[in-house]
Amino acid sequence: MKRLMITGAGGFVAGSVLLQAKGRWETLAIIRKPDPAVAAAASRTEVADITDSASLRAFFEAFRPDAVIHTAALADIDYCEQHPEQTYTVNATGSEIIAAYCAEYGCRLVFCSTDTVFDGKRGMYTETDVPTPVNAYARSKAEAERLTLSRLPNSAVARLSLVLGIPLIARGNAFLPGLLRRLSAGEAAPFPSNEIRTPVDVVTVGAALLELAENAYRGFLHLSGNTRLSRYEMACRIARHLGYPETLIQPVDSSAMPDRAPRPADVSLDNTLAQSVLSTPMLSLEEGLDLSLRTAEEIFGNVIPKNST
Ligand SMILES: NC(=O)c1ccc[n+]([C@@H]2O[C@H](COP(=O)([O-])OP(=O)(O)OC[C@H]3O[C@@H](n4cnc5c(N)ncnc54)[C@H](OP(=O)(O)O)[C@@H]3O)[C@@H](O)[C@H]2O)c1
Repeated sequence: MKRLMITGAGGFVAGSVLLQAKGRWETLAIIRKPDPAVAAAASRTEVADITDSASLRAFFEAFRPDAVIHTAALADIDYCEQHPEQTYTVNATGSEIIAAYCAEYGCRLVFCSTDTVFDGKRGMYTETDVPTPVNAYARSKAEAERLTLSRLPNSAVARLSLVLGIPLIARGNAFLPGLLRRLSAGEAAPFPSNEIRTPVDVVTVGAALLELAENAYRGFLHLSGNTRLSRYEMACRIARHLGYPETLIQPVDSSAMPDRAPRPADVSLDNTLAQSVLSTPMLSLEEGLDLSLRTAEEIFGNVIPKNST
């Protein structure tokens, strides 16, 4: 079996990659804190910070990966805004370290970037549009893209839209479980009506990243769903689709919220290229939601809490 290294293995996206890699790849999970679920899902696990260059060299030397899927990042946008130097070190310098080792050890690199490298003034961005980041997180990711491609020009840089779904292995940065908890408890759930996105489900993202690890695609690729809508509309459609009262979803204007890092308004991504390059289909919001819930239910049983109101 070919060998795959996955960074950020305790995260939301990496959980989907690890699950779908099982039986197809020998996997080395790089994680910051030990996690029994990740250890059970991966062939091997190593604990390290991705900025620890010496440890990473030792892992490359011992494991000799054929491919790396690099998901590790500081991804809490408000935390990143308060800690720009740490954010740059982890997201940009950490990515450069990974890309340099991939170049040195002759291995394929798939880097996870973000829709928010764009300023959101236009929407439906394509792979040829130039990044114009508006916050510290996005600046660090745009810089990581640049450093990755300069170290290893044949890397794939996958820009992910807002990722939707239930964490399949470890926990990570997923909004859906919290939304379902609130809806089932009859609690109001505020969602920005001024932020337009093209959400993509975590199962599709994992499959697409694994496909990129196996093919020779180079450069940017937009991994996004087929439905373009505001985060408020997205939450309303999720509630409606799952039989919860849509009235619990409350529209808010995130640009008026204090102490929040600036968010780009419309970072919808055009996925035309991904549709032609990948055999993994890009899905509508409801198709992606159903796929991610079905996959989670195969692992955990019922994941949709009963409406208790
Ligand atoms: N989820 C989305 O909607 C979305 C959208 C666009 C792009 N992305 C990108 O996709 C990637 C995966 O996102 P995600 O949602 O899976 O995020 P996540 O759940 O927060 O996972 C990121 C992982 O990176 C780890 N990490 C952070 N700093 C590290 C360091 N210095 N050394 C080693 N590991 C470190 C975190 O470990 P700890 O748990 O210990 O902090 C976490 O497990 C990220 O690169 C993100 O920028 C995500």
